[in-house]
Amino acid sequence: MPRLAEGFVTELKDRIDLHDLVSRYVQLKKSGSSWVGLSPFNKEKTPSFYVHPLKGFFNCFSSGEKGDGITFVQKMENLDFYEAIEYLSREFSIPLRFQEGSSTSEPLGQSMRKELFSLQEIAKAWFSEQMKAEGTESEVARKYWLQERKFNHEVADSFGVGYAPTDRFALGRHLTSKGIVDKLMAKSGLFYDKKNQSDWVSIFCGRLMIPIREKLGRICGFTGRKLSVTPEWGEKKAPKYVNSPETPIFHKGQILFNLDLANKEINESKDFLLVEGQLDSIRCYTEGFKTTVAPQGTAFKESQAELMRKSNPRRVVCLLDGDQAGQKAALSYVPIFLKTGLDARFATLPEGADPDQIVVNQGKEALEKIIEEGEPMVSYVCGKILSKKPSPQEKIKVTDFFFPTFAEMESLVIRDSYLNELADSLIVPAQALKADFQKFNRNRKPAYQQKTTHNPTQKVENKTTERLTTAEDDLLYCLLHDVRLGSSLSQIIDPSWLDTKVTAGRILAKILAEILADGPLESSEMEELLEADSERFVFQNLLFQEPEEESDTTIMDTANHCIAALFAKNSRKSEKTLLSSLQELNHNPSSTTELRAQLKEIRSCRKNPPKIFETELDPKL
Ligand code: UTP
Ligand code: MN
Repeated sequence: MPRLAEGFVTELKDRIDLHDLVSRYVQLKKSGSSWVGLSPFNKEKTPSFYVHPLKGFFNCFSSGEKGDGITFVQKMENLDFYEAIEYLSREFSIPLRFQEGSSTSEPLGQSMRKELFSLQEIAKAWFSEQMKAEGTESEVARKYWLQERKFNHEVADSFGVGYAPTDRFALGRHLTSKGIVDKLMAKSGLFYDKKNQSDWVSIFCGRLMIPIREKLGRICGFTGRKLSVTPEWGEKKAPKYVNSPETPIFHKGQILFNLDLANKEINESKDFLLVEGQLDSIRCYTEGFKTTVAPQGTAFKESQAELMRKSNPRRVVCLLDGDQAGQKAALSYVPIFLKTGLDARFATLPEGADPDQIVVNQGKEALEKIIEEGEPMVSYVCGKILSKKPSPQEKIKVTDFFFPTFAEMESLVIRDSYLNELADSLIVPAQALKADFQKFNRNRKPAYQQKTTHNPTQKVENKTTERLTTAEDDLLYCLLHDVRLGSSLSQIIDPSWLDTKVTAGRILAKILAEILADGPLESSEMEELLEADSERFVFQNLLFQEPEEESDTTIMDTANHCIAALFAKNSRKSEKTLLSSLQELNHNPSSTTELRAQLKEIRSCRKNPPKIFETELDPKL
């Protein structure tokens, strides 16, 4: 991969007007020297998303997200760092610059993720070819698709449906012949671990292959349906569906099947239709239910509901199987919708039927009718738990179901309207129900831990204290807000003091090592040392965090405080090691003398941790 020229990232950020970029996604209004709008990361009614074009960063008070133009597009478009650079260079016509000697003809996007996306595309094309090929196996797949499932060739082509042959090595051979290197094959999610075998063994054998696309429409994985030719798994029966495992581009919880197409149709007056299976989704879509989506299997996650909420639908109508599993799943979806702030309806399908069968056997009008009869969440849950003449215990079961989720809801207005709805369904006075809820809420956890719904500035303070829990975070914050601290810190802090399980600890370790070797660094130079996105997000969150205005403590005080904390932690660790050595050597007094002296030294040093003084600061920075 060619490397970007030094300083190019900084230049790119300087040349992009953050207002121009953000206003493509968010309607912004002028507020002093900044701009403000509704958060693109959180549902909110009062704008608390601030953009500071002159300083080049955004600050979202409702979600606590902060960052520059690059992190902004990363989050909005779901891109990795290099993809975001490419994207911005293209959108703002700022040509990429590479280091001397590195080839410029090769696009930067030879980044792992991009290559993995194109690998999935090559696999899809091959599966499609296999579906159309001569031979009995392909014939079985075609017959299944056309006759048993009653789909047609056009639908197969537009969704990229294909066939994975029973020859377990064929896919590997094909991809290798296309020049795909082992490193990518291993991360593609299409093969078993190679271990000592010489050939790649596909996890998809003798299956109907359905590509899964992420929200921008790129293929990120597959699901393969069992056919009559599918080999069984030794003693075990092969499962009906095999899905791609998690890969760098396939995160189940972040994907809804068909969302790329549904998003083209959805708006605030339309409903998402949530079905269980991928084939249900394809059927509904082709029959005109264009806003149908499906989770991967029945494990529906909050992150998937969040994906739907971002598209701002009127509501979600769930079409879950009429069997017990489907009904149980439905109940587990309710808290997820409530927490996400999505309005949902539940439509119950006849037992043993799914949306696909209903459309095929009874026509799409039958499905339309079922959708229309969808029930609001509160009455749906009540219908499941309450009998015709509900007992007080049954009613308590219902409140036990709802209260914990109500307590976590952001909007008090929406919560209140659900409480009213619930009182109606339970036939109890709203006052009584609300009093019960307040009692539940008060007993839930200590007041200081409870979520506040005050003004945005208060919220960010909460975020701040939440995040700055480690000395590593605090110290990195200090360094980023006064880079002159770098030299002293690099000399005082021993790398072993830093907890590298904490992201900020890893970042500090890298930066301090570099400063020790090469001298002082500016914050943009520090940023260039980072590798993972998680590191860049933490780095920017701290970099763009503004110092508390009314605080008396200086950055230097805070830094010294952190040094003392890290020092103390390390000295306790050494003390513990020494004590256990002492215990082991207890029977041999002569050899313990030395250890006792060390112990004394450690204990007396603890009272005098190292410290930085203003006069030591690097004047060059
Ligand atoms: P169903 O068993 O209801 O399958 O599982 P279906 O969608 O109706 O499939 P067809 O019509 O028989 O082909 C619902 C969903 O659960 C996931 C799949 O996403 C499936 O669509 N599933 C099911 C799996 O991931 N693995 C399995 O073994 C079974
Ligand atoms: Mn089905």
